Amino acid sequence: MSMNNENAEASTEAPEKKKRIHDQAPSELFAEFMRSGWSASDLDDLQPLEVVTYAYARRQVLSAAFPGIRLVLPAGGYKVRANDTDYQYRPHSAFAYYSGVQGADSTADAVLVMEPTEGGHLTYLYIHPRSTRDTDAFYRDAKYGELWVGRRYTLAEAKARYQIDTRLVNDLEGFLKEERETLIIRGEDAMVDGAVKKHDREEEFVTFVSEQRLVKDPYEIAEMQKAVDASALGFNDVISVIPAAVATPRGERVLEAAFYGRARVLGNDLGYSTIVGAGAHACVLHWIRNDGDVHMGELVLVDAGVEVESFYTADITRTLPVSGKFTPAQRSLYMLVYESQLAGFAAIKPGVKFSEINKACQEVLARGLADMGVLTVSAEESLKPEIGLHRRWTLHGVSHHLGLDVHDCAQARKENYMDKELEEGMVLTVEPGLYIQPDDELFEPEYRGIGIRIEDDVVVTADGCRNLSEDIPRHPDEIEKWMKSILR
Ligand code: GLY
Ligand code: MN
Ligand code: MN
Repeated sequence: MSMNNENAEASTEAPEKKKRIHDQAPSELFAEFMRSGWSASDLDDLQPLEVVTYAYARRQVLSAAFPGIRLVLPAGGYKVRANDTDYQYRPHSAFAYYSGVQGADSTADAVLVMEPTEGGHLTYLYIHPRSTRDTDAFYRDAKYGELWVGRRYTLAEAKARYQIDTRLVNDLEGFLKEERETLIIRGEDAMVDGAVKKHDREEEFVTFVSEQRLVKDPYEIAEMQKAVDASALGFNDVISVIPAAVATPRGERVLEAAFYGRARVLGNDLGYSTIVGAGAHACVLHWIRNDGDVHMGELVLVDAGVEVESFYTADITRTLPVSGKFTPAQRSLYMLVYESQLAGFAAIKPGVKFSEINKACQEVLARGLADMGVLTVSAEESLKPEIGLHRRWTLHGVSHHLGLDVHDCAQARKENYMDKELEEGMVLTVEPGLYIQPDDELFEPEYRGIGIRIEDDVVVTADGCRNLSEDIPRHPDEIEKWMKSILR
């Protein structure tokens, strides 16, 4: 279906790189004909989303941090994939966090504006609303028109759903150009960027909205549990198609596709590109080509997460024996990673520095590698930061914050992330790994080309942590049982 819309109208907007509204206006006869003969279709019974009280509380915190300043959080627009086709739309995470806007309802090009007032801010959600049947846009506007891309909310419907006063986004540019101290998230919306002058507190604003998400509220934790539970079903699906993956060229794609199906059926999308590394591909950390064959006797590493409608994602890795049974070499390396992960879990509790999780995991890995005789120094020596020989095989840190972004809170300052004490309500991954490259002569041949990572998602509790992904088998015996139950 081409964008060459027969009914499209001449654009009144600035010329876009790709026009979505272009041809001649239709005849008055046709326009009149299209306006009439439709049933009423307002949504009168919309209930507020569960998130609204949480989103309100989040905005109160933001408001208190920037009194007297207008705060602007754009959702961002569509991103071009090629020519006139776009990627699936997904709003900026800060917009999602403070607005509560979700999944299929999400409004591309919306902007959340917090307008300073006595004692705080008033919030407005600027949206491109539904094109009703009394406009022509519903059939002529290929970007927003509902016969092209589906129905959006009216201003009143969006207000009912999100409990935020709504305004037309077409009126926003003029509003923003009024002289007023304003902070924006830059780089998401060209109109907003152009309308608002640089402010010397912009970086502070970006840091603040990232750091505010370090501790999750109960709604967020419940959403992350949903994301994990959907991902658990995705991993079942992956196992169920292992025989098809072995029988199909580029079988990694068979596994990738199985998980993707679950992400789209139960969630909004994947939280990030799935990694499926069979055999030595598991030793390539960001192997997202996923175009390798899957062979009996190998391990396959699958790192995947469902993003639910509220845009929270899981981030889970399981390393599975394609045959359903680990070889002795695979199992011994796997157990080292498993023990390392247990040490990581054990290190987590409020008051412990984030970086201690990595230390706990790396200690187990370094000792195991020393015991295998592959280190030329002792484990103690290797664990000194300036030496770190074991890192030849451990490659990456073992934890990050998780939430709306898979690497959540990425703009947080080091002193509030790496060097910060853990707090109840933080959600983190624990994901140690060992990767023996296929040409690594320091290992015996049976170990070469084995890559293992085990990744779970935990929430910090009052006295430790709770593993949200506990129900997805991790121990090799449990994995073998799990695979047998699905593949028998
Ligand atoms: N899937 C990306 C990560 O594990 O950090
Ligand atoms: Mn991760
Ligand atoms: Mn991962």
